[in-house]
Amino acid sequence: MRLRQEEEGDGAAVETLYDLAFGPGRRALSSYRLRRGPPVRGCGHVVDAGEAAAGLAGAIRAWPVAVGGAPALLVGPVAVHPAHQGEGWGGALMAAALGAAAAGWRRALLVGDAPYYARFGFAPLAGVLMPPPTDPARVLGLALAPGAWEGVAGPVLPAPLASGCADTI
Ligand SMILES: CC(C)(COP(=O)(O)OP(=O)(O)OC[C@H]1O[C@@H](n2cnc3c(N)ncnc32)[C@H](O)[C@@H]1OP(=O)(O)O)[C@@H](O)C(=O)NCCC(=O)NCCS
Repeated sequence: MRLRQEEEGDGAAVETLYDLAFGPGRRALSSYRLRRGPPVRGCGHVVDAGEAAAGLAGAIRAWPVAVGGAPALLVGPVAVHPAHQGEGWGGALMAAALGAAAAGWRRALLVGDAPYYARFGFAPLAGVLMPPPTDPARVLGLALAPGAWEGVAGPVLPAPLASGCADTI
């Protein structure tokens, strides 16, 4: 098992893993309205289970969005194959994506369970509005640069893919 950056040929295996983890209805989630273009190159990471295993054991991706005009990184989906959950891969994928993004991006957000994502520093964001019907308590943010979320609020909108994961925004 090896964590590495997502590569060109991983796309189908990542989609298969996401379908397994979230069910095929996942694309109806409101967050997918913000994920129409390609994910940010270099943020995506996978857990490669090796040639003997079919498919991937874990994956994370991220998309560019704008919040009240400010660029932000929409992190996720993150998924770990049920056979390998609880082994630390979810945390390792999150650390890898955030570590790559911290070189360039100032702020990250995601939609998820606050008790899980608090361990990575994510906390509820006030006044940041995901497309409905997202539960506002599940909209969580992380400042990758000090104070980066201060004064940033408004609807979350899709943003053009401007750069790679570690490029300065
Ligand atoms: C959520 C997920 C990515 C975590 O991956 P993982 O490799 O199992 O996580 P780790 O091994 O790094 O961490 C496991 C810890 O996270 C906790 N955890 C996992 N999901 C949680 C949740 N939704 N809420 C609170 N804690 C959670 C576990 O209880 C465990 O806690 P411990 O460290 O105190 O024992 C994985 O369970 C998964 O793919 N789930 C299905 C898809 C999903 O829900 N993705 C997240 C969308 S918000």
